[in-house]
Amino acid sequence: MKATQEQLKVKLQEALGAAFGIDYAGVDPILVSASNPRFGDYQANAALALAKQLGQQPRAIAQQIVDKLDVSDICKPPEIAGPGFINLKLKTEYLEAQLKAIQTDPRLGVAPTKNPKRVIVDYPSPNIAKEMHVGHLRPAVIGDCLSRIVEFVGHEVERISHVGDWGTPFGMLIAYLEEAYPEALTTTETLNLGDLSSFYRQAKTRFDADANFQEAARQAVVKLQAGDEKTLLAWKIVCQLSSRAYQVIYDLLEIAPFVERGESFYNSLLPEVVEELDKKGLLVENQGAKCVFLEGFTNREGEPLPLIVQKSDGGYNYAATDLAAIRYRVQVDKVQRVIYPVGTEQTNHFAQIFQVGTKAGWITDDVEFEHAPFGLVLGEDGQKLKTRSGEAVRLRDLLDGAIAHARGDIEKRIKEEGREETEEFIHNVAQIVGISSVKYADLSQNRTSNYIFSYDKMLALKGNTAPYMLYAYVRTQGISREGNIDFEKLGTDAPIVLREETELTLAKHLLQLDEVISEVEKDLLPNRLCEYLYQLSDKFNKFYENCPVLKAEEPVRTSRLVLCDLTARTLKLGLSLLGIRVLERM
Ligand code: ARG
Repeated sequence: MKATQEQLKVKLQEALGAAFGIDYAGVDPILVSASNPRFGDYQANAALALAKQLGQQPRAIAQQIVDKLDVSDICKPPEIAGPGFINLKLKTEYLEAQLKAIQTDPRLGVAPTKNPKRVIVDYPSPNIAKEMHVGHLRPAVIGDCLSRIVEFVGHEVERISHVGDWGTPFGMLIAYLEEAYPEALTTTETLNLGDLSSFYRQAKTRFDADANFQEAARQAVVKLQAGDEKTLLAWKIVCQLSSRAYQVIYDLLEIAPFVERGESFYNSLLPEVVEELDKKGLLVENQGAKCVFLEGFTNREGEPLPLIVQKSDGGYNYAATDLAAIRYRVQVDKVQRVIYPVGTEQTNHFAQIFQVGTKAGWITDDVEFEHAPFGLVLGEDGQKLKTRSGEAVRLRDLLDGAIAHARGDIEKRIKEEGREETEEFIHNVAQIVGISSVKYADLSQNRTSNYIFSYDKMLALKGNTAPYMLYAYVRTQGISREGNIDFEKLGTDAPIVLREETELTLAKHLLQLDEVISEVEKDLLPNRLCEYLYQLSDKFNKFYENCPVLKAEEPVRTSRLVLCDLTARTLKLGLSLLGIRVLERM
């Protein structure tokens, strides 16, 4: 099955060719889904776009296009409107046939890409010598979602966590491990070092209280960088402790598995990278540091800004490691697209390393490197989310809070409705609703903006929230329970009949999933998928209020049941791409 928008595009291209005798294949005739139903379902702006080039009035051009346009199998007769828009309205029979076709399609009409690429999504990539805090939420949630979408489109996705597992922050932890758990370095068994947070806090307390300890921490960094074996072992143990602690949270968030390939992985490659930059004539010595000068970046005095790749003491930095990663991803991983969901504060960093990567010839025209920036999570006061004592909120506390709030809501509802539910049921619903709400609140905002973290808002039953969406799904399942109907066994040979306005509106929306997914795959903006699902729930609710389903006569009854099933499956699929699981009941 071919997507409606695609089919119409091809037909418009053909009409353009026939009308003006030029080969318009490949030219985008600018076809958009009309946001206002008065203008039809799709609107073509080709006539306006071509007015200058053809030296004719847009309405006249539109008329010539329409004269050659044969869309009678899909649309009612096209209408020319305003300055020269071509408005297209889908035929009911066409909609019915399309719905019939997706009824048996597990991909719901979203054809896999014909041009699959190797894609790396660089996430969640935390710096691990710290406790997990609110700042770790967005890379995990957004990275997971983008990976799922790109993968669903049919690309081969590798999730690689570029963990910050090297350098100065490890000094304190290594020194503390050596002091407090010397036996960890002599045994092959894994010792219980307590949880990361208390280990970290004890190390920090020691660090803040004792100048000798601070010196030991500095020494540890020097020894680590010099490759001292015992220090390396201590470093490894600390990394494992961190990774294990982080994994607990990723599991709670149900983040799909990723490979850890941290900064340390590139250590041995850094000298080569610098050497290659030098050979290509890109390297300049600047006050003892090795740099690459950048275009488009200047300091306050307006002088060109250098990107340091090797410091004057011989040490390498974050940028050097990322350059090594770019080179490795292109040359060894043979990747065609790399997506970095990382905070907006690193926008310059990525622009700079991509520029150097391009100058060095690693990033060529056939590979795409993209920073997908995101804003901050703010508290209700509009400031960076902090605890009362001014520290970043622990991610664990944030998630536990959401689950606890969700639990409160559910218990209250169960009581009000006089229902009896098991502890297991309540626990499961609270967990899914709590975590989904946090994820959905994050993904439904335009990724590039900051947003205010509010349990009340994200857990609200009305509005663009996870509970609203989950409820819409539960409602569809309620229909199947009430009517004792197995959606999977709904007659595939029974016809779809669309009569009411609300049915038509819902049907059209269901058939736009492919458009939304291909947009999100390009622009990497999950909020568009959220908006689509929100609209879907809304259109479904309107349909359900207006159109009796179980009480309708055949063939309308089965047809409406298919609409319910398709809505349910679209919600389930769409939410799964956001990393959200549905509930049958809640
Ligand atoms: N570890 C970095 C941070 O927490 C993010 C790394 C993003 N990935 C990358 N390849 N630079 O700020």
